[in-house]
Amino acid sequence: MICELVKKEQPKEHIYDFTVLCPEMAEQAKAGQFLHILCGGDAYLRRPISICDVTEGKYLRFIFEVRGEGTKSLAEKKVGESIDILGPLGNGFSLHPEDAEDALLIGGGIGIFPLLNLAKELGNKPNVILGFRNKDAVMMEDEFSAASSKLMIATDDGSYGFHGLVTDLLKQQMETGRVSHIYTCGPTPMMRAIAEIGKEHNIPVQVSLEERMGCGVGACVTCTCMVNGGRKRVCKDGPVFDGAEVEF
Ligand SMILES: Cc1cc2nc3c(=O)[nH]c(=O)nc-3n(C[C@H](O)[C@H](O)[C@H](O)COP(=O)(O)OP(=O)(O)OC[C@H]3O[C@@H](n4cnc5c(N)ncnc54)[C@H](O)[C@@H]3O)c2cc1C
Ligand code: FES
Repeated sequence: MICELVKKEQPKEHIYDFTVLCPEMAEQAKAGQFLHILCGGDAYLRRPISICDVTEGKYLRFIFEVRGEGTKSLAEKKVGESIDILGPLGNGFSLHPEDAEDALLIGGGIGIFPLLNLAKELGNKPNVILGFRNKDAVMMEDEFSAASSKLMIATDDGSYGFHGLVTDLLKQQMETGRVSHIYTCGPTPMMRAIAEIGKEHNIPVQVSLEERMGCGVGACVTCTCMVNGGRKRVCKDGPVFDGAEVEF
């Protein structure tokens, strides 16, 4: 689908925040799903980017870090230009709105983006833990603060918020209150550690995996991962999986 870029911001040096007009996709979008974007330039394959927010029932927002050729070309698009987007793709998170106030969302680095839409969709505001390398990398604090009942921020070097890992904050949260479900997206070692803690304490953990993709719709098997002894496609069977079943 061809969508118009209606808003473009650059919150950090390598991070771009895009809003596109696409009512058909916005209507169907669920938290945790992704868009497969034709970025332009020399990047012939589409690139997967999570849906970060849906507004007014017609706008989709996504935020991305410039990593290579594709995201570099995408970042050069100007407001008013068209972007070719396939989506919404993937399965998204399974919501448990009845437990939302005891739900815990844990995001690390650029993995925080799909969690904003999730926090909003859950209805009752959940608790949120976000982890970053340092103070300079901290993003979207105000928006997550508004969408959560309690926002905790950790930095690896202690330059902002809690000094330590998101898993330290998770353990603190489990000691002081009930955690009904955990939803997480971020670096693989972080999600692996959270899935382990969930298993030990019988807390369901949904993880959103990131793999390099080709087709994005289940046809090319570029994006496989091991889940419960079998190969699964991140694009079609995921990107959200039961953390207890993923073989990280
Ligand atoms: C379901 C899903 C959702 C995503 N959501 C977001 C998002 O919301 N925001 C965001 O910034 N990024 C997101 N990504 C990652 C994004 O797709 C990649 O950064 C992008 O495809 C890189 O393309 P490129 O052409 O710029 O870089 P390339 O030139 O393709 O690669 C540059 C470098 O990044 C590495 N790389 C590229 N893709 C991946 C990947 N999928 N996993 C690990 N390493 C990779 C390459 O190995 C290489 O070192 C998501 C990925 C998936 C699978
Ligand atoms: S990207 Fe082609 S099967 Fe997943």
